[in-house]
Amino acid sequence: MIEDKVIDQAIRDLFDNIQFQKSPEGLYDPLRYMIAIGGKRIRPRLCLTTYGIFADELKPEILEPAAALEVFHTFTLIHDDIMDRSPLRRGHDTVWKKWNEDTAILSGDVMFIDSYRRISQAPAALLPQVLDLFSKTASEVCDGQQMDMDFEKRQSVSMQEYMQMIGLKTGVLLACAAQLGALIGGADQWSQDCMYEYGYYLGLAFQVADDYLDAYGDEKVFGKPIGGDILNGKKSWLTVKAMELGAEGLEEALATPANTPEEKAAKIARVKAIYDTLGIPEAARKDIKHLTTRAIFKGTDARMGGDGMQVLENFAHSLISRTV
Ligand code: IPE
Ligand code: IPE
Ligand code: MG
Ligand code: MG
Ligand code: MG
Repeated sequence: MIEDKVIDQAIRDLFDNIQFQKSPEGLYDPLRYMIAIGGKRIRPRLCLTTYGIFADELKPEILEPAAALEVFHTFTLIHDDIMDRSPLRRGHDTVWKKWNEDTAILSGDVMFIDSYRRISQAPAALLPQVLDLFSKTASEVCDGQQMDMDFEKRQSVSMQEYMQMIGLKTGVLLACAAQLGALIGGADQWSQDCMYEYGYYLGLAFQVADDYLDAYGDEKVFGKPIGGDILNGKKSWLTVKAMELGAEGLEEALATPANTPEEKAAKIARVKAIYDTLGIPEAARKDIKHLTTRAIFKGTDARMGGDGMQVLENFAHSLISRTV
């Protein structure tokens, strides 16, 4: 078992000292920028946390794979922000806004490649399994992102389709992080699978929370503009649930063009008023709790000693503390 404060310190050291190639600066500065502006670093933390359940000491063998998860995740954000036209990320300008779209595409590409260089530092004997898991995850994230974009254009999306989409765009990466820590930490296959399921359900809870905060969060804490999903016509948890409940006027409200800041604010307020009437925010918080409980239930099935169960519970609760 490895203590939380040791993991906290390792995360700080890892990202305060992370190195990317120096030049051309136009290509690598956006990578340094995205890491420097922070983020919650949930995926490397989850990886080190599950590693710590099965290993007694934080060895260098886990550090670069943990960094690979954050580097990969950050690459997906650079491209996601172009796709979602998002101007703000982690409380700062997004890469396509600060530089331009061409830079965001190529810096994203090279960041993806950098994540492979780091994941390849996993112990040689485990490399085939590690690369297999990482590559499967990476392509599933793309599948999920494509579904997310396709859903914008669809009139209706069922809750089942939504869950499949967020499982791919978000769930599998947390699942991969949790399994990777267990695998490199020496867990047996059964326990690795339990960790995968734990991470997957945590990822679902986390994405529902992200959708909730996109409409009901505080921009200063959330680090992204509130209402972006509504303006983009995203089939977020809130919209899918409202449609399921037969919300009146929602399609029309979502289809209303909004160009000026005033029109945008009015559209966001109108859609949120519909959500509020139907009790959607409360229902979202309930679902987040339910998915988190399910994650803990899956995880605690693993063969682990000591305080493993408590560690999984603590991590899960810290992840959703922004919403419940
Ligand atoms: C944002 O992820 C994308 C989602 C999967 C919701 P995070 O909320 O983990 O973003 P950072 O890394 O903390 O900025
Ligand atoms: C992003 O989902 C998931 C990935 C980046 C793969 P969102 O589009 O909801 O993430 P945010 O809200 O921009 O962080
Ligand atoms: Mg997106
Ligand atoms: Mg986005
Ligand atoms: Mg979001």
